[in-house]
Amino acid sequence: MKNIVLTGFMGVGKTEVGRELSAILGWKVVDVDDEIVKSQKMSINEIFSRLGETAFRDMETEMIRKVSQKRNVIISTGGGAALRQENRELLKTRGVVVCLTARPETILKRTSKNRERPLLQVENPLQRIHDLLEARGPFYEKADIMIDTEGKSPFHIAGEILERMGWKR
Ligand code: S3P
Repeated sequence: MKNIVLTGFMGVGKTEVGRELSAILGWKVVDVDDEIVKSQKMSINEIFSRLGETAFRDMETEMIRKVSQKRNVIISTGGGAALRQENRELLKTRGVVVCLTARPETILKRTSKNRERPLLQVENPLQRIHDLLEARGPFYEKADIMIDTEGKSPFHIAGEILERMGWKR
């Protein structure tokens, strides 16, 4: 069995969908950001502000290398994980890569609830979301399966993922 890898922009619902998949399959969720936070004993904000984005991206690749060795897990990645070719290759070796999408306005609504995302702490976060989505689109589209999350519950999305993978529920 392959792992299920959840990718996609910040605020598309990777965490919630990961939880639903975990409940359905009885598999553990491994969240790459959470693992980095645990191992560095710093928040994502602290890592970005103290060490910079490049240092974070290197930690992310190292963590992806580690977690992609696992089997029968749901791997939830940070929104920038799909950008590096190395990350994409590591994740694909043992996993089906599923990219979740949502409209910029939906992403803004979901991400404005907290200040945990350093890349969106700018004057005009909606513009930043548009710009990042445009730059990242081609990388996200390299996923095995793309799922539009608009208007769907995490439970429904989890079901759709399993259906698209050909796994009966
Ligand atoms: C990032 C997404 C975040 C986190 C970091 C950078 C990005 O994860 O890894 O703030 O570059 O899109 P989430 O997608 O879980 O918010």
